[in-house]
Amino acid sequence: MLNNKITSDVTLAATYLKTGNLVAFPTETVYGLGADANNPTAILKVFQAKGRPSDHPLIVHIAQVEQLTDWAQNIPTTAWQLAQHFWPGPLTLILDKQPHVSPLITGGQATIAIRIPNHPLTLELLQQFGSGIVGPSANKYGRISPTSAAHVAADLGAEVAAILDGGMCDVGIESTIINLTAAEPTVMRLGAISAKQIGKVLGCAVKTSQQQDNQIRTSGSHLSHYAPRTPTILVDPKQLLAQVSDPNRSCSVLSFQAKPTSLAVNCYWQTVSMDPAQYAHDLYANLRTHDNLATSQILIEKPPQQEAWIAILDRLTRAASKD
Ligand code: TXA
Ligand code: MG
Repeated sequence: MLNNKITSDVTLAATYLKTGNLVAFPTETVYGLGADANNPTAILKVFQAKGRPSDHPLIVHIAQVEQLTDWAQNIPTTAWQLAQHFWPGPLTLILDKQPHVSPLITGGQATIAIRIPNHPLTLELLQQFGSGIVGPSANKYGRISPTSAAHVAADLGAEVAAILDGGMCDVGIESTIINLTAAEPTVMRLGAISAKQIGKVLGCAVKTSQQQDNQIRTSGSHLSHYAPRTPTILVDPKQLLAQVSDPNRSCSVLSFQAKPTSLAVNCYWQTVSMDPAQYAHDLYANLRTHDNLATSQILIEKPPQQEAWIAILDRLTRAASKD
């Protein structure tokens, strides 16, 4: 792990970005892998560092709502309403891109993803840098997103010029993404801001592309993402003890319940918070801890199928997906 790249020097970080280097930056959601959104060579470095397919588009981070017009065109009223209400914050808007925006950022699409992150260091970085910063989550492709500077150092320490240390991320899971280019605003990725909250601001019902008849889509059709290397299984609370007690498989457990005193097998048992905000805050750090134990499997007790948990359930389902 290359801790010597970790810094709180915003001016140094801005200089690195201006000279085409990669800088990891903190946000309220997860850490981003930053590069100058106007520099194609720097953008290519992001894809190389992550091992990310080139058709996976990147989010552009900006500092001021007024900068939206630098990157997007045909901006609907709904975008201004949402920006006004939720920015800086964990909401990403998909809009029509300006013609000058590099196809490297958008994966060749005519749309662009934009947000203002809510972290004082990164807002300062964006101000000093003076333009847009592309930033996927600062992890290797498909792996667990980082919520601390140390997580970034472990994954991408060799690839970045600096890691701006903003402490643990408050929210802990990636931003909600809403597509505003279709006839109806549609949530494309679940996050801390719910479709209901967005609908309240817009005064209309907002659909989620992953939702059918209010049911949460379960594993199978999901691509593996946010995934530990250790096989990870989501387990119904009632089946947890039977799974843990399998003598042929070592395991670690994330459960809402306390470790039963009668449990005969040796396992690492972590009792996690029943509060969804706290659970999300801790989730990726917990997954990393469990992954590093290198047991045969990580067993995660399924959270309740309630609205407050759907973004977390989405991430857990992907973490447990083998597709
Ligand atoms: O919270 C977050 O959004 C974090 C922080 C660093 O801002 N970033 C993040 O980036 O999660 P990333 O690259 O890991 O995820 C961005 C998602 C991808 O699923 C990508 O496909 C989608 O945004 N995306 C980006 N541009 C898009 C576009 N033009 N149309 C549709 N989806 C887009
Ligand atoms: Mg990511």
